[in-house]
Amino acid sequence: MNYPVWDVPIIGSGWVIGMIAIFHVMISHFAIGGGIYLPFAEARALKRGRKDWLEFLPRHSKFFLILTGVYGAVSGVGIWFAIGLAAPEATSTLIHNFVFGWAIEWVFFLIELSTAAVYYYTWNRIPDKLHLKVGWLYAGTSIMTLVIINGILTFMLTPGESWLAVAGTGKESAHFFQAFFNPTYWPSLFLRTLVCLSLAAVWALVTGSLINGRKQPELKTEVIRFSTKWLLPAFFLMPPCFVWYLLMVPESQRALLELGISTIGAGTFTQVTRMVLVSIMTSATILGVVYFIAYRDPKTFRVGYACAVVFLALAATGSTEQAREMLRKPYVVVDHMYSNAVRKTPVNVNGEAIKEVDRFNRDGYLTNSIWATEQEKAAWAQWDRQREAAQVVNASTDEQPAAPNVTPEILRRGELMFRGQCMACHTTDGYRAMRGFLNERDLQSIKNILGMLHGYEETSPYRTYMPPLVGTEQEIEALAIYLDNMVNGTQAQTENVASAQ
Ligand code: HEC
Repeated sequence: MNYPVWDVPIIGSGWVIGMIAIFHVMISHFAIGGGIYLPFAEARALKRGRKDWLEFLPRHSKFFLILTGVYGAVSGVGIWFAIGLAAPEATSTLIHNFVFGWAIEWVFFLIELSTAAVYYYTWNRIPDKLHLKVGWLYAGTSIMTLVIINGILTFMLTPGESWLAVAGTGKESAHFFQAFFNPTYWPSLFLRTLVCLSLAAVWALVTGSLINGRKQPELKTEVIRFSTKWLLPAFFLMPPCFVWYLLMVPESQRALLELGISTIGAGTFTQVTRMVLVSIMTSATILGVVYFIAYRDPKTFRVGYACAVVFLALAATGSTEQAREMLRKPYVVVDHMYSNAVRKTPVNVNGEAIKEVDRFNRDGYLTNSIWATEQEKAAWAQWDRQREAAQVVNASTDEQPAAPNVTPEILRRGELMFRGQCMACHTTDGYRAMRGFLNERDLQSIKNILGMLHGYEETSPYRTYMPPLVGTEQEIEALAIYLDNMVNGTQAQTENVASAQ
């Protein structure tokens, strides 16, 4: 707990990343697909001496430059800000492992952004061949940005055994390439490339739909039909690539998907499956709309239809990205770090390698927290002694320990536990609301759930999507009291009763 927790009400910090990411994925993949589409179409038009195409393409490249150069770049930096705030510990892990990869990524970004601008501003100003070369240079560097970021993204789902074996020893950087070319690297690269080509089609339909079909029927027909064909690679190759990708995902994570499928009738935890289904259905609808409306009747293809296709693509992207995120539960880096920044792999404490979970259980989760004052820590220590003494007494008399004396310091202790360990995935009232989940549960029942989260038995149903709850017995009791107070307002009630008397 070295970093502050970013409290975003209602939606939670994860969704802030999610919303920026969905938007960014739509544009960044277009930046690559469209970057191949443009020089490809330009070369084709030059070869055939098509003046009308050479008038259309600059318009499309203007749209392309604005969308990718402005919104793509800004949303990309936005993701950086958001992940740094929402998951600082995980971001730090990624930076420490991949700093060199990122440095190279920025070099390519720089070339990519510059060539995109040069490409647009030099239409008809420099020799055709040179202009085309600028286009291909853009395409090449933008593909390189995917080649690099893909290694870092897939690492989080499948860091690979050789990296995991050295995680926490300080020797991670020696395994850079194993971590980078991890088990899902290649299937993911293929999948994303197919998405890039599809988005080139989707966005080209937008500018293509703006061509006046009555004045230039031939051009419009050709542009629309040419663009729709960019969806074909995805149509044929997406399913096998998707299966390949899933085969590379570790058994434990695939279980999340199967958990959904096998319980779909029962309606329990099915988010991953639901998201995968939404993604498949929207993709199928896109193909239907594109074939029946755009391909068969291109002259009357209106901008409204094009926007509908963009909207469907957004839904498909959103659900796929969410499924990918859910597939990682309860980790941020699978088998290494849980979403709440607690590490699964051993950490080095004064030369001794110890599992962080064990260390927190033994020494306390909040013991070294910089978010509690010394007075608070002193009050907690005193409370611990009282609780332990009460238990010793009760063990001899075989009775339940007396109810604890709830003070503001204890509620604060529970709050810090909640912020540190639960808020990465839960909010109080909004998304995955704690109040909703714990509704109608009393203190004892809350303690039972926390006991299950803490025990983390192999058979625990929570294990597939929640990290173990860590801390000392008293810290966990403080969390229970805090949650009970949150949902049942017990503390406030007792105070009212006391003041009424
Ligand atoms: C890695 C993300 C993650 C973290 C961290 C996390 N949870 Fe959860 N939790 C989930 C998910 C996902 C669900 C299931 C949501 C659903 O069914 O819609 C869930 C469900 C629950 C439920 C309802 C379970 C039931 O059977 O009804 C409770 C209670 C709960 N969490 C408590 C906690 C507490 C307390 C913490 C902190 C100690 C915590 N969670 C930390 C992801 C997480």
